[in-house]
Amino acid sequence: MIMWIHPVLQTLALILSLYVLYLGWVRFSFAHLGTKGLIFAWKRHVFLGILVLCGWGLDFVIGLGAAWWGWQSVFITGHHYQVGIAMVPLILFGMGTGFYMDRNKAKRVALPLAHGGANALLVLMALYQLYTGIIILRDMVMA
Ligand code: HEM
Ligand code: HEM
Repeated sequence: MIMWIHPVLQTLALILSLYVLYLGWVRFSFAHLGTKGLIFAWKRHVFLGILVLCGWGLDFVIGLGAAWWGWQSVFITGHHYQVGIAMVPLILFGMGTGFYMDRNKAKRVALPLAHGGANALLVLMALYQLYTGIIILRDMVMA
């Protein structure tokens, strides 16, 4: 049971992140591509974005705790924990830039692009975590 908390929460956060990315894409397409007639759900993007990034960050620690609980050892899942560690600075960057742009509204190009790029990369990394995570569930949790 304890070994399932982390995979379930991370998968839910991943699903939510696709929606947050979609909201960001709306912003991207009218800010940079000039698409007309779109409205960016600013507050919803910020609220759900915080949920996703905090979820990934907190559940990173839960994953480590579960590994310790189940196997009395951590950093044994190869690419899964390595990609997980690489996600941490990106999560901090996505959160920091997001908070900054939310508090100080202005016309910008580079910062939103860096924020959107880092967070889109995080979504890709989380998809990879799903792939490696399912293999861990199959070979190390259910076996
Ligand atoms: C999974 C998490 C997130 C993803 C995938 C994401 C993605 C994006 C993308 C693609 C954009 C458009 C960038 C552009 O127009 O160049 C954007 C804009 C924005 N995001 Fe996020 N974001 C996430 C989390 C957050 C968080 C946690 C916050 C606030 C704490 C935030 C605040 C903003 C703001 C304020 C903008 C508009 C910036 C502007 O155009 O001035 N985002 N995001
Ligand atoms: C999305 C971001 C994710 C991050 C940052 C992350 C990170 C981690 C970390 C750091 C560990 C500890 C591994 C070790 O010490 O070797 C771990 C364990 C584990 N992860 Fe993930 N993970 C993520 C997503 C997922 C997903 C989507 C799944 C599966 C659906 C998953 C399945 C597992 C499993 C089964 C473990 C073993 C411990 C446990 O059962 O809780 N992870 N993860």
